[in-house]
Amino acid sequence: DRSIKIAPSILSADFANFGAEIQAIEAQGADWVHIDVMDGHFVPNLTFGPPAVKAFRPHVKTVMDVHLMITPVDPYIQAYADAGADILTAHIEAGPHTHRTLQAIRAASMKAGVALNPGTPADAVEHLLDLTDLVCVMTVNPGFGGQKFIDMTDKVRKLRQMIGDRPVHIEIDGGVDPITAPLVAAAGADVLVAGSAVFKGGSVSSPEVYGKNISAV
Ligand code: DX5
Ligand code: ZN
Repeated sequence: DRSIKIAPSILSADFANFGAEIQAIEAQGADWVHIDVMDGHFVPNLTFGPPAVKAFRPHVKTVMDVHLMITPVDPYIQAYADAGADILTAHIEAGPHTHRTLQAIRAASMKAGVALNPGTPADAVEHLLDLTDLVCVMTVNPGFGGQKFIDMTDKVRKLRQMIGDRPVHIEIDGGVDPITAPLVAAAGADVLVAGSAVFKGGSVSSPEVYGKNISAV
């Protein structure tokens, strides 16, 4: 399914009201709920771990899309499976054995995603495309919401070509708003993460990315 899906990131939500925030974004039409897990080591920020993700699970009626910005990944895969993640994405830069990591994620009955930092070329995932369900193209350096969009449309185009007929999503993460969303969608992305464009002032108030005419490729 290559229709455009919006995945609000609860990194920009009110941290004291996650249940209500998740219900609000799903009521607004969120397709997936994006959860940013940071370890203060792979990225210079800390968010939440498996117990918090498990607590979000009953509130998420759509798809729980968990983005790990942690290293190492492998020791925590089962914990995120137990927490109820539908999709688990690891960074290719997080360790030397992404191939093994993706196999382990699928073996734990989750969809497997691989994320690329802005500095990592598309070629880095060429040998992983049969093992992955999603390639996440970071359009900011990971760690914080609200950063300026870095244009990665050439990388997205190249990936879409490399993916060919495989059922692999291309997700864009960072600085997605009504201006940048159509650019990445036209390049071949189909899942758009949006934090600050959805949550204003710490809670869902202006979901600007919904209802816009974002055309699929
Ligand atoms: C950044 C996170 C993103 C972030 C996006 O490290 O992976 O998911 O929350 O936030 P915005 O949309 O504000 O750039
Ligand atoms: Zn993310």
